[in-house]
Amino acid sequence: MSMSPTDSAISEAARAIRAGQLVAFPTETVYGLGADATNGGAVARVFAAKGRPHFNPLIVHVANPADALKYGQIGGHLAKLTDAVWPGPLTVVVKQTSESPVAALATAGLDTVAIRCPAHPIAQRLIAEAELPLVAPSANVSGHVSATTAAHVRADFGRVVPIVLDGGPTRIGVESTIVTSDPDGQIVLLREGGMPRENIAEIVGNNAIADRATQNNDVAPSAPGQMTSHYAPSTTVVLDITEVPSGSALLAFGGSVPIHDGPTRNLSPSGSLVEAAANLFDALRQLDASGMDHISVMPIPNTGLGRAINDRLRRAAAPKR
Ligand code: TXA
Ligand code: MG
Repeated sequence: MSMSPTDSAISEAARAIRAGQLVAFPTETVYGLGADATNGGAVARVFAAKGRPHFNPLIVHVANPADALKYGQIGGHLAKLTDAVWPGPLTVVVKQTSESPVAALATAGLDTVAIRCPAHPIAQRLIAEAELPLVAPSANVSGHVSATTAAHVRADFGRVVPIVLDGGPTRIGVESTIVTSDPDGQIVLLREGGMPRENIAEIVGNNAIADRATQNNDVAPSAPGQMTSHYAPSTTVVLDITEVPSGSALLAFGGSVPIHDGPTRNLSPSGSLVEAAANLFDALRQLDASGMDHISVMPIPNTGLGRAINDRLRRAAAPKR
């Protein structure tokens, strides 16, 4: 059970943001850990609470698409995309404006900035009332499974984050898609996410998307957060399982599930990738808590939201450093 926050709860949260404190809030993708993007001290508290490495920059969230232009230079295909998709599950990485008030720590000192305009009404109202751009990484301890409910946020942070605006489970369930543009103006996907590649192609055309694999580097400055091990439960994750070994929990998908008498979560018995994305992080957290030796994962189609799901599962299964 969760109750939508009252107007006064949102106003109190906006005051806390203005005072440099942290507020967790729902977006349509995952919960974010919000702070004033223009306040270096507040941004530092976000990094500290998450245990996040300082080289990994944060996304700046705005209430209105037009506000994004105060912080970043959005043009060409990226402008076409944001016009079509915002507010929505898309983040653009662009050159910062010269007058941008965003704290250098938020962008890890890069000359670029990641910007997103989330669609969730609670996120929109919080940002608008604070009258500030908000940094908001996913509201999980760094490297851990992302949070899609207020209970997930509390499980990771407890009293470290006293204000959690509870908007119920998030609708999409995986983070925003991150895109940038290369020197030729082609779109490059830095992170698969809530806006499927196919939908981007419908808006800008297939030819506008650079023929380059999504980055997956531990250090590449163009996508510093795409660490190989990420979104990781503490239980070992094994992918593409067709027979479930003993001592295993099962993360299933679709109608034909192998026989298994251990803990099981089916992401979508009907085989819907939209439903599967929405259930992914809660299922991983739940199976992680079941105390089995490993989590076996059935194959999931690699189309639409399936690409983002498989990206998160690959990182969850990657050896931890
Ligand atoms: O859906 C989402 O995007 C959520 C919600 C809360 O908005 N936020 C989120 O933030 O996923 P976070 O911090 O977990 O992921 C942000 C990603 C990281 O991989 C980071 O490296 C990348 O964005 N990023 C941020 N600024 C960047 C920049 N200037 N250049 C390249 N990548 C950047
Ligand atoms: Mg994250």
